[in-house]
Amino acid sequence: MSSPLADILVINGPNLNMIGTREPEIYGHTTFADIEKASREEAASLGVSLDWMQSNHEGEIVTRIQSAVTHNRALVINAAAYTHTSIALRDALGLFSGPKIEIHISNIHRRETFRHRSMIIDMCDGTVAGFGAMSYQLGIRAAAHLLSSQ
Ligand code: DQA
Repeated sequence: MSSPLADILVINGPNLNMIGTREPEIYGHTTFADIEKASREEAASLGVSLDWMQSNHEGEIVTRIQSAVTHNRALVINAAAYTHTSIALRDALGLFSGPKIEIHISNIHRRETFRHRSMIIDMCDGTVAGFGAMSYQLGIRAAAHLLSSQ
């Protein structure tokens, strides 16, 4: 579980724990552990604290977003495949009033048509997609920027 009141919670949806070996031609060779490490370094360099979670279960992510309402100030979310399907995640994001950044490793708009639609895009302040593992760092920067201008 999270430490109390971390500034930013990074949420990772299904199959992202397999990044590094999963379809490397699309997602690259950087491992999920390396992405977490780089994200924590980015947050530290910006002077913000970070919580990190990954789940393959939709309900678990919903519950974590609910708890973020009182534990976190901003969300950076790679909802993975749930991006394209989940009204439950969309509704959970509606509970959270702080900055929310949608991120994707790949450029979802260059891929299959079913990936072009995001159920959460209009619940978020902005989207970062297509920069590989760096999308995480860019998303964290965007969230920290929005927090500092609040
Ligand atoms: C993804 C893109 C989604 O379409 C896909 O289902 C993922 C990863 C990305 O980071 O590029 O699992 O969110």
